[in-house]
Amino acid sequence: MVLSKAITIFIAAICLLLTNNGVEAFHKIYPHLQSVSTLSVSETHRTAYHFQPPRNWINGPMYYNGYYHLFYQYNPNGSVWGNIVWAHSVSKDLINWKALEPAIYPSKPFDKYGCWSGSATILPDKGPVIQYTGIIDEKNTQVQCYAVPEDINDPFLTKWVKPDENNPFVIADLDVNGSAFRDPTTAWKGKDGNWRLLVGSRNKDKGMAYLYRSKDFMNWTRAKKPIHSADTGMWECPDFYPVLLKGKNGLDTSIEGNHVTHVLKNSLDMTRFEYYTLGTYLSKKEKYVPRKNSEDSWAGLRYDYGNFYASKSFFDPSKNRRVLWGWANESDTKEDDVKKGWAGVQAIPRTVWLDSSEKQLLNWPVVELDTLRDKKVTMNNQKLEKGKHVEVTGITAAQADVEVTFSFSNLDKAEAYDPKWVNAQDLCSQKGSKVEGGVGPFGLLTLASINLEEFTPVFFRVFKAPKKHVVLLCSDASSSSLKSNIYKPSFAGFVDVDLATNKLSLRSLIDHSVVETFGEGGKTNILSRVYPELAVANQAHLFVFNNGTEPVTVESLNAWSMKSADIK
Ligand SMILES: *[C@@H]1O[C@H](CO)[C@@H](O)[C@H](O)[C@H]1NC(C)=O
Ligand SMILES: *[C@@H]1O[C@H](CO)[C@@H](O)[C@H](O)[C@H]1NC(C)=O
Ligand SMILES: *[C@@H]1O[C@H](CO)[C@@H](O)[C@H](O)[C@H]1NC(C)=O
Ligand SMILES: *[C@@H]1O[C@H](CO)[C@@H](O)[C@H](O)[C@H]1NC(C)=O
Ligand SMILES: *[C@@H]1O[C@H](CO)[C@@H](O)[C@H](O)[C@H]1NC(C)=O
Repeated sequence: MVLSKAITIFIAAICLLLTNNGVEAFHKIYPHLQSVSTLSVSETHRTAYHFQPPRNWINGPMYYNGYYHLFYQYNPNGSVWGNIVWAHSVSKDLINWKALEPAIYPSKPFDKYGCWSGSATILPDKGPVIQYTGIIDEKNTQVQCYAVPEDINDPFLTKWVKPDENNPFVIADLDVNGSAFRDPTTAWKGKDGNWRLLVGSRNKDKGMAYLYRSKDFMNWTRAKKPIHSADTGMWECPDFYPVLLKGKNGLDTSIEGNHVTHVLKNSLDMTRFEYYTLGTYLSKKEKYVPRKNSEDSWAGLRYDYGNFYASKSFFDPSKNRRVLWGWANESDTKEDDVKKGWAGVQAIPRTVWLDSSEKQLLNWPVVELDTLRDKKVTMNNQKLEKGKHVEVTGITAAQADVEVTFSFSNLDKAEAYDPKWVNAQDLCSQKGSKVEGGVGPFGLLTLASINLEEFTPVFFRVFKAPKKHVVLLCSDASSSSLKSNIYKPSFAGFVDVDLATNKLSLRSLIDHSVVETFGEGGKTNILSRVYPELAVANQAHLFVFNNGTEPVTVESLNAWSMKSADIK
């Protein structure tokens, strides 16, 4: 390990979603709402085990020191974007959280107009440093600043200070777009002893990550060329780290060598989703080169094909794993958010590692989540003919964890695949659960009302292409709520799976307004936000279903009621 193992401190990373003054309008500004105070907090769709602040607006994670730390962009005065500070919560297990006072808020000339996203790095012998983007004027000019704990012996690291020396530590050079220059990554230390970090940026429609290098962590110099760039618009929240070619363990961000491959993930401001590539880090040349077969475009691989943005990962040396945090926004209206008194949830933290195929990453909920599992029910060898649905009873269906494996006898009945179907989400909205198929649609009906006026189906459909089968995983919100004015996307992704076993499996974490699904052991994952009106609390039901001509069997299903996490 390059970073001292002796320090039992966890490396932290934060990525917080940013706005750009409404210029690009992805983050709309609601001056009339951003300081409307919350009188009461609506509980109907409030999640019980996904992290939320007690109230108001969140969007970012982080973590650190025997305690996991989560820093997040937070509006203390309203539940739409505005007045952003770095709120701070701590946890021993990534599941139960205690809120502290805000760690960073505008207080200096270099961050007077905002404290936006950043990351933390643990310096051997010195402890953590947070590097973040400060806004210095009303034009949203962005500079990179840092903060350090006031008292390194305080286990919670409650108070943070921003030294005047060397702050800001990076300002944009003349050839860098200073109003699109943000989200410093966790720094890593090269074999030459120099620290390096990336800052996201753009030049016209090209997204890029600039690399900065420093011997002393204070004086940073830019490498002439970005470490990498692609025609995918502004890169927010870049994340860059090594993964083992073989095995599940995570690696410290500074590890290099032939036994690893690198991951570069960017959050795309233009499309509001993220993608990653796998590739080689040529440290001497300060270059990252995606592998030939790792698509470097909007069609690239994603951690999650649903509502999942501004994600960041960190290495957790206490459990030798890399943990990934993502943020999911609301898909109801801003006025609903004001009424609810909160907006935004964190996805369940996920362990991330390279699939044995070496073609993609896998994500799986951290093992600590299992401590919330309560009453368990099972279903085995339940046959489902076409058109059938069977209820899974005996658990709290609005707050549950479900693992299920389906099997079928063969793929003869699979529908023909049209090569035009390259976009999974379009295919899902065209062929939802209601359109009968051959092999599939089959899966779960989550957050369903008893007579299916409302349901969020999570299901597979298998297609036959000339040389292979194509497997689609859908999480379709189109029938999730009787409410009409909300965003109900048919999220979907393809699953790269060998069907020789004639089996497909999935796990769904259901939490009132979240359905977070992991397909085939974490190959294809989808987080959906839904707002049922009937299927709430004990009126919510869970079913298994099949709408394909090939009969399927629920080979095994384990479902648990989930306890609420302790989030204060
Ligand atoms: C929130 O509102 C209070 C009272 O109006 C004000 O003093 C404070 O500066 C506001 N906080 C932020 C971060 O804008
Ligand atoms: C610089 O960034 C701003 C904010 O994203 C954008 O409006 C402008 O077009 C960018 N300029 C170039 C040359 O990309
Ligand atoms: C900062 O680093 C650069 C490149 O290594 C060097 O040329 C410069 O003198 C340094 N500046 C200070 C103030 O140390
Ligand atoms: C958030 O929600 C809206 C719909 O309400 C959606 O269009 C947008 O792309 C979402 N995602 C992000 C990352 O902002
Ligand atoms: C199954 O297909 C039938 C016929 O198209 C449809 O009415 C029903 O809603 C579908 N079931 C689900 C769960 O989508």
